[in-house]
Order: sequence, then structure tokens, then C-alpha cells
Amino acid sequence: MCGIIGYVGDKDVVQVILDGLARLEYRGYDSAGIAVEADGVLHVAKRAGKLANLREQLASTPLPSSHHGIGHTRWATHGQPTDANAHPHLSDDGRIALVHNGIIENHAALRADLEARGIVFASQTDSEVAAQLLGVELAACGDLTQAMRATCGQLAGAFTLVAIDAQDPDRVVAARRNSPLVVGVGQGENFVASDVAAFIDHTREAIELGQDQVVTITPSSIDVTDFDGHPATTRRYHVDWDASAAEKGGFDWFMRKEIFEQPRAIADTLLGRYDERGQLTLDEVRIGPEELRRADKIVIIACGTAFYAGMVAKYAIEHWTRVPCEVELASEFRYRDPIIDSRTLCVTISQSGETMDTLMAIRYAREQGARVIAICNTYGATIPRESDAVIYTHAGPEIGVASTKGFTTQVVACYLLGLFLAQVRGTKYGDEIRAVVAELEQLPEYVQQVLDRADDTYALARAMVDVQDFVFLGRHVGYPAALEGALKLKELAYLHAEGFAAGELKHGPIAIIDSTTPVFVVVPPQGRDQLHDKVVSNIQEVRARGAHTVVLVERGDESVAPYADTVIELPRVSTLLQPVVAVVPLQLFACELASALGNDVDQPRNLAKSVTVE
Ligand code: G6P
Repeated sequence: MCGIIGYVGDKDVVQVILDGLARLEYRGYDSAGIAVEADGVLHVAKRAGKLANLREQLASTPLPSSHHGIGHTRWATHGQPTDANAHPHLSDDGRIALVHNGIIENHAALRADLEARGIVFASQTDSEVAAQLLGVELAACGDLTQAMRATCGQLAGAFTLVAIDAQDPDRVVAARRNSPLVVGVGQGENFVASDVAAFIDHTREAIELGQDQVVTITPSSIDVTDFDGHPATTRRYHVDWDASAAEKGGFDWFMRKEIFEQPRAIADTLLGRYDERGQLTLDEVRIGPEELRRADKIVIIACGTAFYAGMVAKYAIEHWTRVPCEVELASEFRYRDPIIDSRTLCVTISQSGETMDTLMAIRYAREQGARVIAICNTYGATIPRESDAVIYTHAGPEIGVASTKGFTTQVVACYLLGLFLAQVRGTKYGDEIRAVVAELEQLPEYVQQVLDRADDTYALARAMVDVQDFVFLGRHVGYPAALEGALKLKELAYLHAEGFAAGELKHGPIAIIDSTTPVFVVVPPQGRDQLHDKVVSNIQEVRARGAHTVVLVERGDESVAPYADTVIELPRVSTLLQPVVAVVPLQLFACELASALGNDVDQPRNLAKSVTVE
């Protein structure tokens, strides 16, 4: 992962880069660094730990003013998160500074070769290999862009590189392979970065870079080529959100703000999904209806929270389309020799659109002839670009590392996909589809009702600040909701939290339950009588073991009252849609408990938002 930025222009370079890094810190926060050029000399400041450490250093030892510079915030893969391993890295002769995101797979062989040629390394990182190689190439040809192309041609793996040359004060050069890079188009200034958030304060005009491309920016020009130097075609676009969407807006945490943004995010995800004939539409479909009808299996591929969204999707898609649907962790998918062919429809879910496990899984699926539909929140990211169709979730930027509005909008997008497939395949009539969509359109209001009662959940969280173990139970679509509730607590509170299928509890996990274990139970709506009654029995089972039961149940369902220590009331929705409302109190609970424990909710330890390594 890692976040990187490069700037060339007349503004205060250090400030532009620090502000950009603050917006990119969600990508990693093991160390941060910056390099600028002044009077033909490169000046570097870098510190282990969060960006605040670098800011402190720069406050006491400022860098000289400059016209171009690069910055980096790191999530460590090779080498400890130390000052020395922080980026930028300099070449041995001090002429170039470089930042890198990704993993250079042939770093060991390249390092050995460079060391044999007398190059002395200052760090243990794979990234420094790229810096040293670029230094050698530049010494040979004298032109940073040409040297970058030559360097990229020798690297294997995933990388975004951004570099500056001490002897070329007007130019920043960047390149990408399997790792994100966007160009920010300014007036008399230009930017390159991992994500548009890094330069959104300065421009909303962006260019997405394709695979294996090199870009050279000066204050007045942007030049893109492939690794061989041939001019490349690019696509320019306007970013439809602004800087305020990436600010905290009065909340203590981005995550809390994002939880409260869910009604808006869900409404935006549902916007404009009908064409003039009243038919559901997806954003970008490059798969014909005939192929969608031919599909005999759906495989959903995702990681983390997005995987749980996929688990919810399986229930809905199978129910509405009657097509068998599997859900697979992206990191496991291609290693089990999955049975897929041209009749398999893969659905990939990724908030960032850059998760490497997911990207590799869809590449594998496409190689086998499968068609891929991406559900993604990041316009122009690699995963949607490499897919045959895209449904964008329109949740706006998600900065908190633990996904919240990402999850609920993914689930909503999955419902839309399920209904779209049902429409194309004729497994649901138009009025049936419209009835579900009408209920989907109520979800923002229902989520708002849950949010309006956030204080009750906060009080519960603060009362449980000394608890060490939590259990979450659910059945049917309540099961992935329970898993997501447990994941949120692990991620944020660093506590032991397990989600189980409620019916599976008696087959083992019930042994861990005693009077010290709060058990959260997602109760299905009463409409599904059997399902509902089974879960009520499960609540009684854990109650009998002395557990404190926290029951999430629809308004007006009195059946659980005798067995519930705490009731969290949910709006009445149909069973398949319930996870969207049920997960909200679980998000609020984890956020508040982690805050009460003094944890950094937006940047939990050891995690990063966009995981671009396998
Ligand atoms: C990381 C994040 C999770 C996220 C997962 C998948 O592990 O910490 O919050 O769910 O990646 O991310 P994606 O961007 O593919 O949805």
C-alpha cells in the first residue's frame, strides 16, 4: 500500500505535500517522509511513525523552499518501520530521490547486482533498489523520464514510483504497474498521487494512468508514455466530490462521520438506476444480456468487510435469480484451482478498488474466460478498470480504516446487481423488482432512525469497557452481519470478538460462553417465522449459560424480551435487507468502545485501508 504524492508548481511545496500525505495516511502510517530540491541539492526529512512525527521534525528543522518535491506515507512490507527504511530514498550519488508503493519482487537479485557495481545501500527496503537503479540509469542517460522508463523495464512486481532529480528543478516523473497513480491537473502546477484525495484542495481535474505508463509533469505540461516511450492515451475526468467530503466535519473521527453519512451514501448509491424505459441499469456494462443469461454460476470475490457484504449478496442473488452463487475470499480463490469458465460470472467487491488479493483473483478469473462485474467505491481504480462491468457505490471518500459506509453501500449495490440479473434473466417480474427497489429507497430513512438512537448504543459500549471477549450471532443474512460486528470490534478495540452462525453455536463455540461474555444476537424479522423462532431459541441457549444478551430486533417484536438483557430496536425491513440496518449499531458500538479505550479509531494498529500487497 503506502501513499505517495509529487508536486511541481509555485505553492509552498512542503505544505502541499504534508496536506496531501494527511489525506493519504489511511494507506499506511508506519513512517512518513518528504524530499525537495533547492539550488541543485536534494533535501530529505523522514521519520518513523505517523505523519505528526514528521511535522514535528519539520517544525524544528524546516526544509528550504522549492518548486518541486515528493512525499510518502508508508505501510511497511520489506524492512522495519524505522527512520532509515522510511521513504524517500536517495540514489548513492544523491542525485535522485524516489518514493515507492508496492512490492518489487526481484529486489534481491537487483540489489546484489547493484552492490557488485559498488552501490552502497542505506536501507533494507525493496524500494531503495528502485532508487539506486534509477540513479544508475540517470547517470547513464542524463534524463529522468528516460531513466524511469529504463528502470521500470527491469522491475518485476507491483510499483508506483515517483522521483525528482536534483539537477532538473521543474520536473517530477512517476510510473505505475499494478499499483495506483493519478495525475492532478492544475493551473501552473501539477500533481501525481496515489489517490485524488491528496490534491483535492487544489484541483478536481484528474487523469487516470493506465498500466505500465510513465508520466512527466512540469508546472505547465503533462506527458504520458508507455515504458518504451510511445505516447500513451489517457482519460481525463472531473472529481465529483470536494475537499469538505474528506474532512471530519465536526466529528471526532472520520469513522464516526462516515457511519453518520450512511443515509446519504445509500441514497446516492441508489440514484439514477432506472433508464427511461423503467429498466434497472448498471454504471458501465460491457457484458451483453445474452452472456448474463448464459451464466450458470456466480462467484463473489472480496476481502475483509467487502467479503461479508458478498456473503449477504449470496442470499439475495440466489433467491432472486436462482443461479448458484459462491462467495470466496480473494486471497484463497486462485490457489484452490476453482472451477470457472466462460459461463461463470465473477462479482468482485472492493471499496478501494486496489486490493491486491482481489485484483489478482479477478485477473485469474478473466484468464479462465469468466466475466467480471466490479462493485467499487473508487472511480477509475484498477479493479473496475480491469473488469467487464462496474457498479459504483457513490459513498464518497472513506477515510476511516475500518469500513462502514463502504459496507452498507456495497450491500445495496449487491441488491441492485441481484435485481438487475433477475430482470435480465426474467426470474422476477418488473413489479416485483420495483417493489424491492421501493423498499431499498426506504433504507436511508431506516438507517437514520437507527442513528438517531446512537446514544443508547454509546452508553452500552461505555458500560462494557472492561469486557475482554464478545460473541456475535446471526442466522441467514444476520450471520454476515454478526461477522462484520465482530470484525469491527477486533479492528478498532483490539478485543477478542467472534461471529458465529447462531445454529452452529451448539456445535462447539458455546463452550466459550460464560457470565462474562456479552452475546450480540441479530434476530431476523418476524416475517420468516422459522428463521426467527430458531434464533429466539439460540438466545435462550446462551442465556442459560449466563451470558449478557444484547438483542438486535425489529420494532414491535416482543418475543425476545424475556431473554434480552439489552434490546437494540431496528426498523422493520424484509429479511434480505436487514443487514443494512442491523450493522449500524454494531459499527457505533465498536467506534464508541474503541474511543473509550483511548484507541486511534481512524488508524487502528497494524492495519491499512488500501492493501496493495498479497
Ligand atoms: C483492508 C481494510 C478493510 C477492508 C479490506 C478490503 O483489510 O482494512 O477495512 O474491508 O481491506 O478492502 P477493499 O478496498 O477491497 O474493500
